[in-house]
Amino acid sequence: EFTPDEKHHIVSLWSKVNVEEVGSEALARLLIVYPWTQRFFSSFGNLSSATAIIGNPKVRAHGKKVLTSFGEAVKNLDNIKATYAKLSELHCNKLHVDPENFRLLGDILIIVLAAHFGREFTPACQAAWQKLVGVVAHALAHQYH
Ligand code: HEM
Repeated sequence: EFTPDEKHHIVSLWSKVNVEEVGSEALARLLIVYPWTQRFFSSFGNLSSATAIIGNPKVRAHGKKVLTSFGEAVKNLDNIKATYAKLSELHCNKLHVDPENFRLLGDILIIVLAAHFGREFTPACQAAWQKLVGVVAHALAHQYH
């Protein structure tokens, strides 16, 4: 479902992404901007302020884990649903994360990429990434029905 141009935008930007930096910033922003998402991370310790969230090593580690998993989508652009079948099962049946939150995290990832890459994150590149985060959110939500 991705055109060759879209694939190029996705893969070439991904090769420059610092997974730990971008992943931890995206998860921290999710927890700050949409505070109800903190409910899922009660085992992560101090999330009492934006400063605490940004400095929290568990948020950092988990953000890296989540974005590393995003890399599996980048490597399997033609097969994203199957790639996330097990993770969808986990988030749906075990964690009970409302799928709306996948869309929120995807949109935050776009904002973090824009902040990191500036002019390099062109409208065409954004369009390809916007499509990717939508497909990932859809794949993760697959087990919900
Ligand atoms: C765990 C990926 C979105 C909540 C995980 C794990 C991965 C992952 C790879 C670790 C699974 C394991 O240990 O086997 C993703 C991806 C997402 C996403 C790719 C979206 C793009 C979310 C959202 C929430 C969430 C939006 C909640 C608001 C959790 C929780 C865990 C988890 C609570 C378990 C954490 C722990 O206690 O270790 N996710 N996730 N995830 N995810 Fe997600």
